[in-house]
Amino acid sequence: MNFFIVVSASVSILLSIALFPLLRTNYLGNLRGPWSPSSLVADLVVSNGTIYTSDASLPLADSMAVRGGRVLRVGNYSSVQDLAGHGTKVINLEGKVVVPGFIDSHVHLIFGGLQMVRVELRGVNKKDEFVRKVKDAATNLKHGSWLLGGGWNNDLWGGELPIASWIDDVTPHNPVWLSRMDGHMGLANSLALKIAGITNYTEDPNGGAIMRTTDGEPTGLLIDSAMMLVLSHIPEVSVDERREALVRASNLALMRGVTTVVDFGRYFPGASEELPWEDFSEVYRWADSSGQMKIRACLFFPMDTWSRLQDLIHEKGRKLSQLLYLGGVKAFSDGSLGSNSALFYEPYIDDPQNCGLQVTDMESLLNMTIASDKSELQVAIHAIGDRANDLILDMYKSVVSTNRMRDRRFRIEHAQHLAPRTPAQFGEEGIVASVQPDHLLDDADSAKRKLGAERAQRGSYLFQSLLANNALLAFGSDWPVADINPLRSIKTAMKRIPPGWENAWIPSECVNLFEALNAYTISAARACFLEEDVGSLSPGKFADFVVLSTDSWDDFVAEESSSVEATYVSGIQAYP
Ligand SMILES: *[C@@H]1O[C@H](CO)[C@@H](O)[C@H](O)[C@H]1NC(C)=O
Ligand SMILES: *[C@@H]1O[C@H](CO)[C@@H](O)[C@H](O)[C@H]1NC(C)=O
Ligand SMILES: *[C@@H]1O[C@H](CO)[C@@H](O)[C@H](O)[C@H]1NC(C)=O
Ligand SMILES: *[C@@H]1O[C@H](CO)[C@@H](O)[C@H](O)[C@H]1NC(C)=O
Repeated sequence: MNFFIVVSASVSILLSIALFPLLRTNYLGNLRGPWSPSSLVADLVVSNGTIYTSDASLPLADSMAVRGGRVLRVGNYSSVQDLAGHGTKVINLEGKVVVPGFIDSHVHLIFGGLQMVRVELRGVNKKDEFVRKVKDAATNLKHGSWLLGGGWNNDLWGGELPIASWIDDVTPHNPVWLSRMDGHMGLANSLALKIAGITNYTEDPNGGAIMRTTDGEPTGLLIDSAMMLVLSHIPEVSVDERREALVRASNLALMRGVTTVVDFGRYFPGASEELPWEDFSEVYRWADSSGQMKIRACLFFPMDTWSRLQDLIHEKGRKLSQLLYLGGVKAFSDGSLGSNSALFYEPYIDDPQNCGLQVTDMESLLNMTIASDKSELQVAIHAIGDRANDLILDMYKSVVSTNRMRDRRFRIEHAQHLAPRTPAQFGEEGIVASVQPDHLLDDADSAKRKLGAERAQRGSYLFQSLLANNALLAFGSDWPVADINPLRSIKTAMKRIPPGWENAWIPSECVNLFEALNAYTISAARACFLEEDVGSLSPGKFADFVVLSTDSWDDFVAEESSSVEATYVSGIQAYP
């Protein structure tokens, strides 16, 4: 049955056809939670909307009352109207769609915020665009901060090398350093040259060159070892910059309707495991204690440091405040498809000796998982290739048989390429599949090239199979690897049409609108143990919700322009 078509009919038809077996017939006036009905006055009542709650006991409603930052009652207007009293703000939604605040199950928030003010010049093929991108980045930046970026390739616009005067006018207050894609050359603006003390009279260092005009004036381009003249003046990313990055990233998240993120930190194989802890103590705790947390964040830490997290949770609990939660621990089992390091049963077509890499040895992964799990920490492991996924599922199974029974919700991050029987194993073991729909847009062509059409077609991004096998499917973005944009991701998961493709990549794996919404809300909340607080518009949970620009489910899916009109966190408008 096509759920989507059903819902575009009327609510009453929907309710009558038992799509939600748990639906109570007399749901609208029901009160749950600790409130008494008579004396309560709501802070906020939103009415006349098209509200999807992600709560299976009452999926659709038109009105909602909020008090003390939490949902007080959801239903039709006549059932919430008595809660509107003196001082209640009432908003007529004029039919607009409202959904629970999106939960992005996999981001690198601070890293993403840092990237936002770095210029990405990869693929730029016009001087105008080069200059515009630098200009846009400068407007986000405090005076005096370095504007960094790169990836430019002058061959794409005919070969002319860039010079400082291209960008001096748009970057008067910020020193700039933009490296070429090959890393052997970079462009400084005039302010950066000045800070580095590079003048007409500076001599070329050994092994490098300062490009100059025929008159001998530096153009801004520095080659090889001459780059150090500027690089040595660029400060390490400071605590202040990381704090700004968090705020900037949170504002972007709110703009896209994201009210909760699961943050996997600035952590990649080989990175210092100190970084996420530094970000926690210097950035997140600062934000939390100074009122700068704008969205909810649930933090994961490197698995090697599990005992540190255990101690912290023992001391403070998982919920540090209404906005900051300690999640669990994260490790890697393999690499990525793009770098031919995701671990498969069969070799890469474009690299026939190579099946990928196991980046952490299984014995230490098993030991750490057993220890983390015994300490009641949630475990999340990165696995992309089919073999990596199976290795982790088997490992999880043996941990479950070693440690006592408990509600552990082991996670696999990405779960991108799966063998035919693997979705069933996710379901049987109750493993969370934390997946990123938008990656399928970027991967479709390279998967065909690297795995061959048959393998790519058989086992990639098996969202519907995972759902059909009762796996807990949680959506996310992996931002900044892909954009943080749930509305786009939802459409991607429904349509699965990569750029330049006519048809869906594995049409049978498309999910419907409400499956996608659930994966971005209630299932994502369960996937990180936050379902008591967020994930659905249910009485007692935080009133985190998003008002969309559209008033019908058809438009939500069809129209590319359906966008976030407002985002509320704890019943307070946080965007715009
Ligand atoms: C609204 O909810 C109340 C309480 O459940 C119910 O009696 C009433 O019929 C509903 N009204 C509409 C228009 O659905
Ligand atoms: C509800 O919104 C619609 C627009 O979708 C509007 O025509 C109608 O007047 C509104 N109803 C109320 C009671 O405000
Ligand atoms: C550097 O050389 C250029 C070109 O000869 C000249 O216009 C400029 O004034 C010189 N700058 C300094 C600081 O000497
Ligand atoms: C894993 O734990 C076992 C038993 O405690 C121990 O003998 C072994 O050395 C550990 N292996 C690794 C790689 O840590």
